[in-house]
Amino acid sequence: MSASVVLTGATGGIGRAIARALIARGDRVVLVSRSADEVGLLARQLGQGAPPGAVEALAVDITRAEGRAAIVRVATERRCDTLVNNAAIPSFGPIEALDDAHVEAVIATDLVAPMLLTRALLPVLRLHRRATVLNVGSTLGRLGLPGFSVYGAAKFGLRGFSEALRRELSDGPVRVLHLAPRATRTAFNDARVDAYNRATGTRSDPPERVAAAAVAMLDGGPAERFLGFPEALAVRLNGLVPTWLDGAFGTHRTALRADRTAPVLPTPTLATTPTPTTIPLETHE
Ligand SMILES: NC(=O)c1ccc[n+]([C@@H]2O[C@H](COP(=O)([O-])OP(=O)(O)OC[C@H]3O[C@@H](n4cnc5c(N)ncnc54)[C@H](OP(=O)(O)O)[C@@H]3O)[C@@H](O)[C@H]2O)c1
Repeated sequence: MSASVVLTGATGGIGRAIARALIARGDRVVLVSRSADEVGLLARQLGQGAPPGAVEALAVDITRAEGRAAIVRVATERRCDTLVNNAAIPSFGPIEALDDAHVEAVIATDLVAPMLLTRALLPVLRLHRRATVLNVGSTLGRLGLPGFSVYGAAKFGLRGFSEALRRELSDGPVRVLHLAPRATRTAFNDARVDAYNRATGTRSDPPERVAAAAVAMLDGGPAERFLGFPEALAVRLNGLVPTWLDGAFGTHRTALRADRTAPVLPTPTLATTPTPTTIPLETHE
């Protein structure tokens, strides 16, 4: 039976591949991203040959409450039974090079927004006999790598959210799935990440491979999947004995240090650090 899907991050490399695969099998899809031009153009392209109204574009920011409310409105009108939380922003570099605003934006986009969107859409999904939330995570959500501390924290969080929610909702109509791609050839990875991946021998997949795995999971496949053989093995081992593996990432540290383009934030000196002041308590007789 065909599904009615909300797909975030639809204009990205993996999002486009998932959108194409869903439309090809007859699903109705609401494509979500921030860029109105891009998502509108994509909806027109993918809508050609599809039944009228099968593809809709929605330009919103998922980190904003009004953006998520707009998604809920459209999903309610279209009786959506599937949410694919795929949108994310990348983060790479030594922790000292990542400023506060960047760290907050990554956690807001990659972790907080999918949780809030899932919660907001649950009443719509629960109207169906069978509904699905598919969260797109990452290998780095179960295997911490040098240079990906903040991104990894967001994806570890998304995996934990998926696992707990899957168990919380397991006696109801909503299935919760977690798909963890390994490196994938999209614009998400800039030249610095590509260089790091080359230096560390990290293999990558085409986005179509991720889309095929996503569709197989929506069709009743496993609730969690890590793509790529060495990666799937590494995440299992890491889950069992994480500190045993700590010595295995020298090449990754070298590759991270070789990246001279990372901006390094100035370290505050003692002279510029404000001295804590004590506010005297008022005494009441
Ligand atoms: N590429 C990889 O190597 C790789 C590996 C493992 C996992 N993943 C995961 O796979 C998913 C898709 O990645 P990708 O490679 O396709 O990335 P991508 O090509 O950079 O696409 C990211 C998408 O998210 C959208 N987006 C970002 N922030 C948003 C916001 N605040 N509100 C709404 N939409 C937003 C972007 O559109 P706008 O900018 O127009 O909003 C774009 O459509 C992500 O969850 C990523 O973490 C990727």
